[in-house]
Amino acid sequence: MQIFLDTAEVDDIRTYAAWGVIDGVTTNPSLIAKSGRVFEEVIAEICEIVDGPISAEVTALDAEGMVAQAEPLAAIHPNVTIKVPLIPEGLKATKVLSGRGIKTNVTLCFSLNQAVLAAKAGATFVSPFIGRLDDRGERGMELIEEIVHAYEQYPEFHTQVLVASVRNADHVRQAALAGADIATIPPKIMDKMVKHDLTDSGLAAFLADWESAKTAEGVAL
Ligand code: G3P
Repeated sequence: MQIFLDTAEVDDIRTYAAWGVIDGVTTNPSLIAKSGRVFEEVIAEICEIVDGPISAEVTALDAEGMVAQAEPLAAIHPNVTIKVPLIPEGLKATKVLSGRGIKTNVTLCFSLNQAVLAAKAGATFVSPFIGRLDDRGERGMELIEEIVHAYEQYPEFHTQVLVASVRNADHVRQAALAGADIATIPPKIMDKMVKHDLTDSGLAAFLADWESAKTAEGVAL
């Protein structure tokens, strides 16, 4: 399973990349706007930090406009992956970009039928937004299970399932159990994933035992 970071904050990306577990980064217009920085500069900086797919989203609503926005973004670095929305124009753009060897991440996927279309268009990644389905009282993870299962039936599909809109650590756990290729994770959830109270108390006990052994008479450590 691959882990991407879902953020445009380069300081956070540096922090978690240093753990050695980050395979890529996803951004979207909301995250870029939140960073308060120039889009292309942020993407270029992220590409220097993480050696893996870095998603940069287009904002045009027609295929021609999406492709025109994608070209200079893809020229920033070979790892730049163009994020396009799952609408008919986005599918057209995906087909063109994949034909040109440019990686694509088809985003805002909320149904299996949409995921099938993304795969047919040659998407490198499809991003089902599970948290936003949960928000509506649906079970987002059920969609991941469906897509993983359906894609497995068709060897001609090479699109990777990228679980997005991850809202808690249990989403990551369920994504791993469902066999998703990737989960893209907000930084604060990385902290929740690594933390376990038994790890902390176990470590404290080991260190306390070590200290008392060191100070005990006749024990040389
Ligand atoms: O990668 C897409 C993701 O950032 C959307 O998350 O929490 O805004 O639904 P959210």
